[in-house]
Amino acid sequence: MKKLVSVLLMASMTGLLLMSTGCGAKKQLVMATNAEFPPYEFHEGDAIVGIDAEIAQAIADEVGAELVIEDMAFDSVLAAVQTGKADMGIAGLTVTEDRLKNVDFSNPYATAAQVIIVLNDSDIATPDDLAGKTVGVQLGTTGDIYADDIEDATVERYNKGFEAVQALIQGKVDAVIIDNEPAKVFVEQNEGIKIIDEAFTYEEYAIAVKKGNTELLNKINDAIKKLQDSGKLQEIVDKYITAE
Ligand code: ARG
Repeated sequence: MKKLVSVLLMASMTGLLLMSTGCGAKKQLVMATNAEFPPYEFHEGDAIVGIDAEIAQAIADEVGAELVIEDMAFDSVLAAVQTGKADMGIAGLTVTEDRLKNVDFSNPYATAAQVIIVLNDSDIATPDDLAGKTVGVQLGTTGDIYADDIEDATVERYNKGFEAVQALIQGKVDAVIIDNEPAKVFVEQNEGIKIIDEAFTYEEYAIAVKKGNTELLNKINDAIKKLQDSGKLQEIVDKYITAE
């Protein structure tokens, strides 16, 4: 009996605490990301903008919550979701078997590819030519994982994809493996580099939630479906990616 009372007391106290921290404000939906990945997420002045940021806002609207974006190292994004520090990871996250062991993923909202950026006069023309070369990647990305499998290659890992591109321009690495859309942005913004024709791998982007959080996952999938059916997703994509 005593135990029950204290349990009840604790429960009502946590309730009070939750109410008081809420202060009548909307509940928050925390998104973990790494805003070094244009056009999906990047800094524009003080704001974090991009395709993922807009998708996240639509999900927050669907859930009736205030969106909070937490910018962190890319290799912390999934950990933040796993530990509950963030409700969802939206970071151009590729669905992989390994990641599925640690988090749940929504339905995919985009397709992507890992591509190879080289100097214009490079002798690297296909993925096979990467054997024995020095390859730059963003730490913890699928590019990093694939680079690991290249025969005799040396992999240089950077905190930001753009740092890998700078290393390429400075001659510190022979090639960069990175997702196709950021690759296009970086190549557009810098002289003397190009994307080779043959893509390395094809992938799908999805949103990560803590394992077992089906409530949020269902809402995210609903929001994605609505965005797709209404044409809003395409609108968002068109705003950030100009068709070739
Ligand atoms: N798609 C790749 C992956 O999931 C790279 C994602 C990088 N995203 C970022 N926001 N920096 O590993």
